[in-house]
Amino acid sequence: MCHGCVRPVMPGRVARFHAAGDGDSCRVKKKRLSDQVIVVTGASSGLGRAVARLAGARGAKVVVTARSGEALDACVREIEGAGSEALAVVADCSVQDEAQQVVEQAVDRFGRIDTYVANAIVTVYAETYRYQADELRRIMDVNFFGQVYGYWAALPHLRESKGTFLSVQSALAYRGIPLQGGYCASKAALRAFFSAIDVGIGAFTQGKPLDPEALRNVIPLAPPRSRRS
Ligand SMILES: NC(=O)c1ccc[n+]([C@@H]2O[C@H](COP(=O)([O-])OP(=O)(O)OC[C@H]3O[C@@H](n4cnc5c(N)ncnc54)[C@H](OP(=O)(O)O)[C@@H]3O)[C@@H](O)[C@H]2O)c1
Repeated sequence: MCHGCVRPVMPGRVARFHAAGDGDSCRVKKKRLSDQVIVVTGASSGLGRAVARLAGARGAKVVVTARSGEALDACVREIEGAGSEALAVVADCSVQDEAQQVVEQAVDRFGRIDTYVANAIVTVYAETYRYQADELRRIMDVNFFGQVYGYWAALPHLRESKGTFLSVQSALAYRGIPLQGGYCASKAALRAFFSAIDVGIGAFTQGKPLDPEALRNVIPLAPPRSRRS
């Protein structure tokens, strides 16, 4: 969708982004990375930190967010060392006000958001019968609501910039595996939620109620092709 495009991303496939094609609702030409302001959640480690660093190295202005301030500061230094600008915002993505704050600080500093990368996660390894209710709730709060809060907060700005919302997902959105039931459920919830949004926005942008035509705007979600979680 062009005014806040939702892109499901599976790590390992990040580099395969390509121009919009048939059946893809994203028909607006995107800005070059060097002209973008990018927010990356979960940027203190792992994939999020790598995305932030690489985007910064290519000239993007990057807002990095997670709970670990020291790691975020190190990430900012890496990006500044590569010649770009960055801002660290310590926030818990599972708290709606904090997710909103991230977006507001990004816009205060850089004036807009072109891409929001919803990447932060937690997991708890346990057999399904051993999970504690609060463990499962925490996984859903961070992984599912964390992305949704970010989406709600960023959407007005993405509409303005004709930007993109990247929902980092997983092959495990398609099937559960032992010891990762909570994580798999959270990713499956994200997949369903954002695919529903895309259908709805497709209908909205065409100015008519949901109909089969709108279904052409569903971004295809490829079945898992690798064994990575
Ligand atoms: N690694 C894989 O093999 C793999 C495979 C498929 C999909 N993925 C997906 O790729 C993404 C990144 O995975 P990863 O392996 O790079 O994860 P990771 O290294 O565990 O990093 C998770 C990040 O989320 C942040 N985070 C956790 N709880 C948070 C909270 N409440 N609020 C804000 N930030 C929070 C962490 O920072 P703080 O602790 O500082 O908050 C950290 O920066 C995830 O969406 C995951 O589902 C990963």
